[in-house]
Amino acid sequence: MAEAVAGNVPKPDYGLDAPVTVKKMFSHGGWALAIGVVLWLVNHSEYPGPSAELLAVLGGAGVIYLGIGGFMVWSSRVAKPALRDRLLDWLELKGEERVLDVGCGRGLMLIGAAKRLKSGKATGIDIWNQADLSGNSADAAKQNAKLEGVSDRVRVETGDARKLVYPDHHFDAVVSTLAIHNIPDEEGRDQAVREMWRVLKPGGRLVIFDIFHTARYAKVLREAGASDVTLSGLGWLWCVPSRTLFARK
Ligand SMILES: C[S@@+](CC[C@H](N)C(=O)[O-])C[C@H]1O[C@@H](n2cnc3c(N)ncnc32)[C@H](O)[C@@H]1O
Repeated sequence: MAEAVAGNVPKPDYGLDAPVTVKKMFSHGGWALAIGVVLWLVNHSEYPGPSAELLAVLGGAGVIYLGIGGFMVWSSRVAKPALRDRLLDWLELKGEERVLDVGCGRGLMLIGAAKRLKSGKATGIDIWNQADLSGNSADAAKQNAKLEGVSDRVRVETGDARKLVYPDHHFDAVVSTLAIHNIPDEEGRDQAVREMWRVLKPGGRLVIFDIFHTARYAKVLREAGASDVTLSGLGWLWCVPSRTLFARK
């Protein structure tokens, strides 16, 4: 009985990245596989060779789509939470810091950072784009913070990465995961990176994990005066190139 009650305790849910793409992968895969099987069932006794070839092509395409969909779910649900602690370790938080999470979504990094704080505060900003993360909202991030027991150390605000409302040198650490690539134009992404640098204190640390444009982010930071910028090796989560950028101010 006690176990059943314990099993009902709601768990934080940090959402699924790119939910529309994941849904398309499963739908395309399912349809390709189903059509291949139906055509084979209808035709294989009269045309065994061609129907087997058709099944191989459609079935193969279906399995590839389903595999990509499954890998994307695993990237969101397993690989990204595992990455969280490695990124936060690098910030070397002592507990009194002000931390900013840019594009915090449902709060994966924000809450992870807050768990390492004592008197410090973690602020998350986002524009709550539904296409980028399932169930994306300020309320979902606040609810996760409550479930994780860190509401008192977390602030969730609506804000655009390209125009941060905070003064220069305000945060001891800035973190951003999988957010900046969603800004459609290069000038907007450059601006977001410059803003993260602007609000970081001298001596502060910045970590950005993202897909596609990380080399460009490093270039923008160096142009803004950063001398200590490192890029990790290439990863392939979500089946696209990803890297982590570390910088000290
Ligand atoms: C794939 S989600 C990642 C969320 C969270 N960082 C995580 O790793 O779970 C990308 C997030 O970036 C946010 N985003 C996109 N463009 C943004 C912008 N211009 N300013 C702030 N947030 C943005 C989206 O609303 C979404 O929450």
